[in-house]
Amino acid sequence: MHDYVIECQNLETAYAASLNRPILNGINCQIKQGEFVVLLGLNGAGKSTLLRSLVGLVPIERGTIQINGVTMNPRTLTAIRRDIGMLFQGGGLIRQLSAIDNVLCGCLGVRTTWQTLWGFGKRDRLLALKLLEQMGLSEQADQKTAQLSGGQQQRVAIARALIQSPQILLADEPITGLDVIASQQVMQTLAKLHSQQGMTIISVLHDLRIAAEYAQRAIVLEAGRVVYDGPCNNLQAQFSQV
Ligand SMILES: Nc1ncnc2c1ncn2[C@@H]1O[C@H](COP(=O)(O)OP(=O)(O)O)[C@@H](O)[C@H]1O
Ligand SMILES: [Mg+2]
Repeated sequence: MHDYVIECQNLETAYAASLNRPILNGINCQIKQGEFVVLLGLNGAGKSTLLRSLVGLVPIERGTIQINGVTMNPRTLTAIRRDIGMLFQGGGLIRQLSAIDNVLCGCLGVRTTWQTLWGFGKRDRLLALKLLEQMGLSEQADQKTAQLSGGQQQRVAIARALIQSPQILLADEPITGLDVIASQQVMQTLAKLHSQQGMTIISVLHDLRIAAEYAQRAIVLEAGRVVYDGPCNNLQAQFSQV
């Protein structure tokens, strides 16, 4: 067991001419197993880029990312990705596919082409159904995701992220655009994964009150740098607008 499940050291990603600086500009952060961290910052601060870099979707210019003590590089990336589930900003579901098929897409990364050429195995389908049931979506399994509400879609995306049994869940604005009840359901789902399964969660949020309600720790980004890393209480006083 390593001290940290995630460790970024002086992480710097590509230079963006429009910003006149690298998008992530020397990020240092360490996250322990079982933490629930909220990532805050204005639009364009680099929150999505930081989450995407943790699953190897952003080229690293300088510095290192370690997941469970393993340094990310092209050789280690596949194994690292198995440990991390990701909820992309906007959901990233395939609208024409049913809920269950979207969930099954979450295991494409760990199955070979041969294993999925004739469709997913029965075991995978049962697991996908079980996850949808856990999300309160048994009835919707065969519906096209385009027909589901925003909150239901977000819970399909959570089921998809969970199908590989990740140890870490990254959620990019999981409740943006949802109404109050749907937001609560999604946040409570994340809270349950955290408290009952000990999952490490990093979630981008914009609401300081919700951040303080669910997360213990906040990391605030500004212009690709960490400007605050600490407890969630009292955030309102420090940052009037994030
Ligand atoms: N692939 C890219 N190429 C160039 N610039 C990018 C790219 N991705 C993001 N950016 C820029 O990097 C900055 C940070 O983006 P992002 O990580 O999406 O911020 P946030 O999620 O905090 O709103 C923004 O100014 C954005 O325009
Ligand atoms: Mg973003």
